[in-house]
Amino acid sequence: MSAHENNKVLIVTGGSRGIGAATACLAAQQGYAVAVNYRRNQAAANRVVQSINQSGGQAIALAADVALEHEVTQLFATVDDQLGTVTALVNNAGILESQMRVHRMDAARLQRIFQTNVIGSFLCAREAVRRMSTQQGGTGGAIVNVSSVAARLGSPGEYVDYAASKGAIDTLTIGLAKEVAHEGIRVNAVRPGFIDTDIHVAGGEPDRIERVKASVPLQRGGKAIEVAHAILWLLSTAAAYTTGSFIDVAGGK
Ligand code: NAI
Repeated sequence: MSAHENNKVLIVTGGSRGIGAATACLAAQQGYAVAVNYRRNQAAANRVVQSINQSGGQAIALAADVALEHEVTQLFATVDDQLGTVTALVNNAGILESQMRVHRMDAARLQRIFQTNVIGSFLCAREAVRRMSTQQGGTGGAIVNVSSVAARLGSPGEYVDYAASKGAIDTLTIGLAKEVAHEGIRVNAVRPGFIDTDIHVAGGEPDRIERVKASVPLQRGGKAIEVAHAILWLLSTAAAYTTGSFIDVAGGK
């Protein structure tokens, strides 16, 4: 059966690299038609799509900045047209900025972090719910938000703003899960720990995992695919009785 025939349609935001790319590839292997959203790096998104298509899966690359409402609505409308109604959303797009203490953070930085990590996730969740809700003519679906263990650790001295934005994602997960549970939609989150991706470059410390790994009970950083497996389980029917829940993929941290 092709991906299209079983009507599993997934949007992964920020899917051109890291955890998002691993999730897109694993989802395609599991029969989802995948919309790989990217903000700027079209070439990277195209590589993900190409590798999915070459393995017999179905994927398209779609540009949209999740921080911008009109680009989010356009993203979902394009998926309606090109893949069919979305049944699964992974709110993966997220940013952090250079490591610094709170007393040095300006409002512009805080706005950038919250606009992408929090408002972007809300806007994508809104568009997904409008399509999935059985009260609005949909057939249900599942949303997974990519939070972080930073939500409970706080990231002191590095990026308390980022950690707080992930705290908001946790609350979005709990509240929205309860709000739409009776409309056929499950909402869960993963909380990755120190995962080996390029996000740490933005913090100003590409080798951050090397520095911090000794503090992790499992004594290593995680891999993007290890997070993707948890995400795909939460999206799957195997998790049919799981909503408003969190899977920490953090090596025991
Ligand atoms: P990454 O930086 O490789 O991936 C993030 C992706 O989101 C990038 O492709 C980026 O272009 C995209 N993105 C950023 N802003 C966007 C926007 N406004 N619109 C659309 N796309 C946007 O990093 P990684 O590690 O794969 O991160 C994925 C998620 O996992 C993020 O939400 C991050 O906060 C979270 N996370 C990562 C951890 C880690 O140690 N790598 C730990 C805990 C959470």
